[in-house]
Amino acid sequence: MNLADTEIVQGVLNSTGYKFTNDISQADVVLVNTCAIREHAEERIYGRLGEFRHQKKQNPNLVVGVLGCMAERLRKQLIEEEKVVDLIVGPDEYRRVPELIENAFVGEKGIAVRLSKTETYDDIIPYREDGISAWISVMRGCDKFCTFCVVPFTRGRERSRPLESIIDEVRLLSERGFKEVNLLGQNVNSYQEGSFDFADLLYAVSKVDKNMRVRFTTSHPQDLSDKLIQTIAENDNICNYIHLPVQSGSNRILQLMNRTYTIEHFLNLVGEVRRILWTRKQIPGVSFSTDIISGFPTETEEDHQMTLEVMKEVRFDGAFMFKYSARENTKAWGMSDDVSEEVKSKRLSEIIDLQQKISYEINQTLIGKTFEILIEDLSKKSTDFYMGRTDTNKIVIVPKGELQIGDYCLVKIDRANSATLFASDGIKIEK
Ligand code: 5AD
Ligand code: SF4
Repeated sequence: MNLADTEIVQGVLNSTGYKFTNDISQADVVLVNTCAIREHAEERIYGRLGEFRHQKKQNPNLVVGVLGCMAERLRKQLIEEEKVVDLIVGPDEYRRVPELIENAFVGEKGIAVRLSKTETYDDIIPYREDGISAWISVMRGCDKFCTFCVVPFTRGRERSRPLESIIDEVRLLSERGFKEVNLLGQNVNSYQEGSFDFADLLYAVSKVDKNMRVRFTTSHPQDLSDKLIQTIAENDNICNYIHLPVQSGSNRILQLMNRTYTIEHFLNLVGEVRRILWTRKQIPGVSFSTDIISGFPTETEEDHQMTLEVMKEVRFDGAFMFKYSARENTKAWGMSDDVSEEVKSKRLSEIIDLQQKISYEINQTLIGKTFEILIEDLSKKSTDFYMGRTDTNKIVIVPKGELQIGDYCLVKIDRANSATLFASDGIKIEK
């Protein structure tokens, strides 16, 4: 989400005549886009501001700006406490970044943190380097008010971007040679623009270029409709991968979290998606990832065991796992954060260990099987290898051979660990 937002800010700046550098010593302005979801995310930003302070000593004219959710949350406080900061811009005021930079050049500090009911940046062309995969923000904000979550406060109310403007952007990306789009929203299933819902959007995007993969995130278990599942099933380039945060395996905790579904509903939903996508698609099977929070207020050992049980039952392909972090303004802030740090850590490591074991076991069953992958980049570890992904979002490492970034190819898996599959060669597919 922040990558997509950064590209929007860069789009705004680019059209005002600014150029970008990755070398901070060359920069007149440095902007940091921030997350406020957990305390840890904010702590990292304080570390970065320390670096900028050092840089400002060498270049006193350097303008420093903090953008995004942490800016929205802390507002004036951030400028008062962190003297290095010249401008503060929340997620709905990115159009004002150039104006605030101009003011900062003449020594005026600026704050723009109004939230909007309508801003979707639909007319801004995000600034993107050429590449294979692009993020497109299709809706902004969140109305769910999960009791632990600061997002409804920092990103405001839900609003959807016009379908036509999304399709135009996908078309441009296809012409530029992109091979994959990721449709983004805090809760993409709530997309609604006129009479179009998220399934309609997904369908329209998938028709732009059949050689382009379409992914989306994040889905809320309450809003993943039958129509959406059918749309995934009937369109081969919509990927068989769903990120579906469960958060906890205990109905009592889910209720306290205001997640608005029960574990029984969640399990049924996963079963239904698996049943439909198994029979309907050329590529059978679907993979799931999830988010899990350990140590929500009042969570008992029994609640925690229920989370482990659900993980064993669903067998997610992957998970993002977090310790509960109390956030000001949220409803859970008012509940006492009564699970000790030690217990939170212990539960989290049990959750991580179990997920690693499950991911490893699932990946072992893929050895000997053949998959189509899209080559996305060089491998991080060696320039002799490429990194690609299966439709189900598994990372595959394959020797370069005659392949090129952006190729689709067939690979037979001969080795796997919990995070990565390995193949010894890839055969290019002409599409
Ligand atoms: N503490 C821990 N994890 C959180 N998340 C959101 N808010 C918090 C919090 N206060 C997690 C949820 C969500 C993911 C994006 O971040 O699991 O799905
Ligand atoms: Fe936060 Fe819940 Fe909205 Fe996700 S659905 S952004 S967890 S409030």
